[in-house]
Amino acid sequence: MSETALELLHRRRSVVAKMLMEPGPDAQQLEMILTAAVRVPDHKMLSPWRLTVFEGDGRRAFGAILAGVSCLENEELIFSADAIQAERVRFERAPIVIAVISKMKDTKPVPQWEQILSAGAVCQNILIAASALGYSAQWVTEWLAYSQRLRPVLQLGEGERVAGFVYIGTAKEAPKERGRPVLDQVVGQWQIPGQVPVVD
Ligand SMILES: Cc1cc2nc3c(=O)[nH]c(=O)nc-3n(C[C@H](O)[C@H](O)[C@H](O)COP(=O)(O)O)c2cc1C
Repeated sequence: MSETALELLHRRRSVVAKMLMEPGPDAQQLEMILTAAVRVPDHKMLSPWRLTVFEGDGRRAFGAILAGVSCLENEELIFSADAIQAERVRFERAPIVIAVISKMKDTKPVPQWEQILSAGAVCQNILIAASALGYSAQWVTEWLAYSQRLRPVLQLGEGERVAGFVYIGTAKEAPKERGRPVLDQVVGQWQIPGQVPVVD
């Protein structure tokens, strides 16, 4: 790994969707991001994921559906014009939103857990590629990833689940640093457990 790539990994920081704005990646840059996205570890080359890009007017059309569905899911919202408006513009918080759909296949040698992990890697690669191009991004799920009513809208088939919606754009302002795990608290050296049979 080059030092530049390592530095990028060390500085990468999500920017919350509401703090993103235009410009977003152009068509060529989006292709670079998508190319990086699908270059992930994938046991037995199943491609156990697919991606859906929302940009331009599609974000508003999707928002209109969100506004309606959110009222069905939370009846209190019907009385809140602000909440309905927030749904209407949810996908317009950023120039581009990529839905990463985990597409689990019933392929015996590859546990579904591994297929889900591969979808997570797709999301992370999008964050890194966007960051490498000078953009900011956030990986979220929010209520829509779990809504049964949105499944047909997202054309989710059997075995498909939303791994995340990745919002990509330009940061309105630099984010504050976030606390990071202390290595000693999350990393350890393996040691031989006391009561296990050992074959010399
Ligand atoms: C699977 C997954 C789902 C997430 N969903 C949300 C979410 O719905 N809303 C949210 O604010 N953050 C969510 N996050 C957290 C953000 O993506 C991000 O990790 C957080 O803002 C910290 O930023 P960092 O990448 O700089 O550590 C989610 C993270 C993961 C891995």
